[in-house]
Amino acid sequence: MIVLGIETSCDETGLALYDSRPWEQGQPAHLGILGQALHSQIEMHQDYGGVVPELASRDHIRRVIPLLNKALKESHCSLEAIDAIAYTQGPGLAGALLVGSAFANALASSLKKPIIGVHHLEGHLLSPLLAKEGPPHPEFPFVALLVSGGHTQLMLVKGIGQYELLGETVDDAAGEAFDKTAKLLGLDYPGGAALSKLAEGGQRGRFELPRPMLHSGDLDFSFSGLKTAVLNQVKKAEANNTLNENFRQDIAFAFVESLVEVITHKAMSALDKTGCRDLVLAGGVGANRQLRAALTGMVNKKGWAVHYPPLELCTDNGVMIAFAGALRLLQKEFSPPDLQGSFDIKPRWELSS
Ligand code: KG4
Ligand code: ZN
Repeated sequence: MIVLGIETSCDETGLALYDSRPWEQGQPAHLGILGQALHSQIEMHQDYGGVVPELASRDHIRRVIPLLNKALKESHCSLEAIDAIAYTQGPGLAGALLVGSAFANALASSLKKPIIGVHHLEGHLLSPLLAKEGPPHPEFPFVALLVSGGHTQLMLVKGIGQYELLGETVDDAAGEAFDKTAKLLGLDYPGGAALSKLAEGGQRGRFELPRPMLHSGDLDFSFSGLKTAVLNQVKKAEANNTLNENFRQDIAFAFVESLVEVITHKAMSALDKTGCRDLVLAGGVGANRQLRAALTGMVNKKGWAVHYPPLELCTDNGVMIAFAGALRLLQKEFSPPDLQGSFDIKPRWELSS
């Protein structure tokens, strides 16, 4: 079956076509990716230092049809070849979600195809199954570490649709902490990747930042204090006139070191507590080199396995929605299109049941 995936929950418009046949035949999941098209609105929002919801929705409207045509062309598929339509139903920005939902429902209605509302985080957490390299894909149950701009969660994944929340952030998400700290150091929004790069030039030991909730005994996180600790150092450096490139690199190093240590420690505890031997890393911060290196080192030392999505599928995209939709469709979880006007979006939506 060929599933069209539509992602519009935040500032990326992503459309993709996924063919479930290789997966059904036990072949690697990535072989089902037929084609995709993606547009990032980052440049448009950069002047505002964050995503402007109204601008995001309008841009999704402008982009969604040309991107569909591009994805179809890349997939060598016609609209008629699509068997079902999956779209991000939530969580996310309400206006942005509405664009994807309205578009998906209109298409499904005109093509008379079933429709699947996908949880954005389910898209992220299943995306490591699409990896082309690395260890064979994880067997259920596994632990998923979701680290994005809006979420930081450890999840026990027992099967498709069976998710148990083990722990989450009590304040800022990891990506949010990256972006806010990056802003303090004068980097453009979203500064996660740039901050990580800046940290590569830094020296260990100049700054010692807190490790929030490292020994809390549970699997929750807190990152807002870390950002405040950086702010205090920035203020001190401003007062002493030492806010130069070396300072920025060294404080960036300390920030990344601290955040990576806490996340790695909690992820290892989650594996210990659940008895799982497979860890899946997903979400935008999953692209972070330092985090990947630390997790791989710790997990491999135990003889366990860590699974990453392909780098280009770490941040938001249509492929992960098409893939999650295809797996739901195989479980016979779909609906007829909703043209009653409710376009049931879920801007706030818990993944765990
Ligand atoms: O999953 P995602 O694309 O969108 C959400 O659903 O939130 O994640 C975006 C987040 C941003 O905060 C961005 O700064 C962060 O992921 N990010 C990174 C890196 N690449 C993206 N953070 C740290 N290091 C990176 N290399
Ligand atoms: Zn995301």
